[in-house]
Parts: sequence; C-alpha cells; structure tokens
Amino acid sequence: MKKTARAHTNIALIKYWGKKNAELRLPLMSSLSMTLDAFYSETSLETGQQNEFYLNNQKQSDQSAQRVFQYLHKLQDSFGLPYDALKVSSINHVPTAAGLASSSSAFAALAASFCAYYDLDVDRKMLSRLARIGSGSASRSIYGGFAIWQKGHDDKSSYAYPLDEKPAMDLHLLAVELDQKPKKLSSTKGMQAAQNSPFFQPWLARNDAELNDMIAAIKNNDFTKLGSLAELNANEMHAINLTAQPEFTYFEPNTIKAIKLVEELRQQGIECYYTIDAGPNVKILTPLKNIKEIKKLFLSEFSNVKIINASFGPGVSILD
Ligand code: DP6
Repeated sequence: MKKTARAHTNIALIKYWGKKNAELRLPLMSSLSMTLDAFYSETSLETGQQNEFYLNNQKQSDQSAQRVFQYLHKLQDSFGLPYDALKVSSINHVPTAAGLASSSSAFAALAASFCAYYDLDVDRKMLSRLARIGSGSASRSIYGGFAIWQKGHDDKSSYAYPLDEKPAMDLHLLAVELDQKPKKLSSTKGMQAAQNSPFFQPWLARNDAELNDMIAAIKNNDFTKLGSLAELNANEMHAINLTAQPEFTYFEPNTIKAIKLVEELRQQGIECYYTIDAGPNVKILTPLKNIKEIKKLFLSEFSNVKIINASFGPGVSILD
C-alpha cells in the first residue's frame, strides 16, 4: 500500500511569527498567504519494515527523520492507530536556497498522504489542523490561491481556510536567491527568540487591522495596497527580530541591497514590493508586465543570483 500527495509552498503576506502553544503550534496571530505554483513537495507513505525517511531519494539519518516520525506518531495517536512502521519518501521541488520554507509544502503533503494511507475521512479544515501540528505555515498550503490561517484559541479552532482559490489578480512572485547557505536560525527558533522584543505586543495588536486591510486589498483587486501591506508586515517582523534581546537578523548585506533595488524600481515607476521570511533571500511581488525589467536589474547588480518566477498554485492533492 502506497499513497502519494502533492502540496505547494506558500508565501505569507501577513506573517505568522510567534506561538502561544509550541506543542500544538497554536499561533499568536492570524496570517494570510499566497500558494505558489512553482514550488511543491510530493510525499509518499507506504508500509515499511521499519520507520524510514527518504528526502530527494536520500535516506535520512535517524536524527533528521525524527521530526517526521514524531509528527506521524502524534497523528497515529490522535486517530487511535497503532505505530505501524512506515516508509516516507519525499521529493522537494523547492530549491533549498529559494528562501521559501519547504516545511509548508512538506507537512501539508505528509498530512494528506497520511490521511490517504489510512483512508481517514477528513475534510480540508481538519487536514489543515493536522498539517498545522507539523509546521504552522503548512496549515495554509492545503488551499490554492489566497488562504487565511485564523489563529483560533485551541487545536479545534486554529486552522486555515481559503479566501480565494482562483484569484483574478495579476500577481507574480520572483524568488530572488541571493544566498545559498542554509539558514542559521530555524523559523521555530527565530519566532521564539523574537517574542521579548518591546515591539512584539504592539505588533500583535495590529494583527486584526492588517489582516482585514489585506483581505480588502485582495477583494478590491488592489495590487498597490496588497504589495505595500505585505512589505510593511514583513518589515515589522524583521524589526521585531532586530529589537529582541538578544537581537538578531536574517538580513545579509545583499538583502539590504535588494531592498534598495526594489525601492529604486518603484521610484522609476516599476511597481513592485518585497517580502522576506526567515532567511536572507528576498521575494518580489509584481504584476506580470514588470518581471522583465526587475530581472534585468537584479541580474546586472548581482553576479550569482538565481530568480524563479511563481504565481498562484493549487491546493493539496492525492496523486494515487
Ligand atoms: C517567516 O511554519 O516554518 O515563513 O510552525 O515552527 O514550523 P513552525 O514554523 P514555520 O514558520 C514560518 C514563518 C514565516 C512566516 C509565515 O510563513 O507565516
């Protein structure tokens, strides 16, 4: 018996950056994302002799398989299933250096293949809750287009739902790979370290308003509003990191250079905005017509840069 699921990564336009319950991955804020077509994970679950985890056809050490099997045990527990030995094989079509968290697609695909393997009758809301327990951002990768993860207050009420699965907005994302080094601080650790910033609580207090403004921008098909809000929200997250005790930042010199280039492009009338996650790479939001100009500038300013173009991707699916 073997079941395979595919899930796409998502980029948060309103970020999740803080937990109130680490075990259940209950967030302190609601978040909103765009699912991306260019990056996805395919994960198969099959009966094994022992627990084994293959990532991109390479058998992983017990240590790196630990997060996967701890997660699967949690799911088995919650459905009253025995700890069957499972072989998990995952192919990540997410360039590690694209600066896009593969954990969002990885855990969404893993949760979906688990439910298919055990033939569990779960709806997408439930699937989103299950994916959330693996990695918070995975809760949103259940859906295509724009998705909202409502923070809720407990395991049952914290899940993502679709806002618009087939958006009409002319919106593209350029993943600008400036730095290929693995990130120094995981999202899980970074968001924990950021919580003592004096700006953390004021940021949280803005979450409802920022989310509602973003929803309005999407409903009004207003790219300018969407882009400027996404950029503001990302800068707020990084300002919190810079003001934590001890302070830290994911920015590298090239991150700042890329930010300046986006500002320069805007001054020239080429409308684009940036967002940045837990790493030094920059993601640029733009309508289709500006992609050529943006790429031209970035390719001329950085020697080793790779730029991958993405737009709206679909929700999770079962492949066999
Ligand atoms: C900056 O979902 O990777 O990408 O729940 O600890 O696994 P864990 O964190 P993760 O964090 C994502 C953080 C972010 C913002 C976002 O995607 O909302």
